[in-house]
Amino acid sequence: MDNLVIFVIAVVAVAILVIGGGVTLAVAIYQANRLILAAASLTQSEDMSSDGGHKSGFGQTMRKDRWWFEPLWTGLGFLFFVIYVNWAAFQGEHYWHGSYLSPLYSPVLFVDIARVGAAPVGHSLFGVWPDWINAIWPPFFPTSPAWLILAGPLAFRLTCYYYRKFYYRTYFMSPPGCAVGPFSTQPIQYKGETALFIFQNLHRFTWYVACGYIAILSWDAFVSLWESGAVFSGRLGIGVGSIVLLVNPILLATYTFGCHSCRHLVGGNMNRFSGSFVSRIRFNLWKRVSWLNQRHMLFAWISMIWVGFSDIYVRLCSMGIIYDFNTW
Ligand code: FES
Repeated sequence: MDNLVIFVIAVVAVAILVIGGGVTLAVAIYQANRLILAAASLTQSEDMSSDGGHKSGFGQTMRKDRWWFEPLWTGLGFLFFVIYVNWAAFQGEHYWHGSYLSPLYSPVLFVDIARVGAAPVGHSLFGVWPDWINAIWPPFFPTSPAWLILAGPLAFRLTCYYYRKFYYRTYFMSPPGCAVGPFSTQPIQYKGETALFIFQNLHRFTWYVACGYIAILSWDAFVSLWESGAVFSGRLGIGVGSIVLLVNPILLATYTFGCHSCRHLVGGNMNRFSGSFVSRIRFNLWKRVSWLNQRHMLFAWISMIWVGFSDIYVRLCSMGIIYDFNTW
């Protein structure tokens, strides 16, 4: 029960810090934005005729709504997630508990058994951490298997059409919102999938990688139902952690199968949906994928937050900070 109290206090403290800090930052940035707009209006003419009737200049707009709110929160939220993932990957330990594996470390390619809370060797694909990796491993990097696998999901998210929208708006401010003046017209003006951003074209291929991760994380969820991860030989049961890990691939699937590339794969390159049996199946699939696609932003955030939450849950259990209620 003590651990439960500590856990509740920790969750409340983190919530207060995140919400309180976020509100403070939001107010500060809003005030800064107002000052910038006020300063700009002193130096710029109110003449709007030069730009098709719109105001020109950074942050200039005729919009009266809180257009800055969405880029601000998405930018802060993603930044918070990136910081957490980097911190968690740097730990290299406490990513395994009982039969639970943190999704940030899955699949485990090699395991350094000297690390506390590392996965058992039997749950790593290629066994113990090899010497040849040590020979090329940067000395300041802990032997963390997370670094070996994070590129796949990262490439998928970074090239996602939704993520592009928000980081172009939030981080590049090119422009920060619809009908809002961009930070600069040169040299970071949006130019589509060109120059440095040519890699965005890889998105349709990273989708297959993401599907592979869903299969792997589904297997992890299945393993989590067996005591100590002993599939078919251990006792079958369920714990709170099993539920957390079961929800994880489901949420990732709602995001991955709502992908624009998936929608094209399922329903693209067709002139009509009626006719053959196969085309009618594709039409039905396309309708379902379209439903997910319309909620792509929502599922992008929920699935991303749940991945972080799953890691936190496994980590806290592994560290002995919280107790995992289970049937074993
Ligand atoms: S467009 Fe977002 S995952 Fe493909």
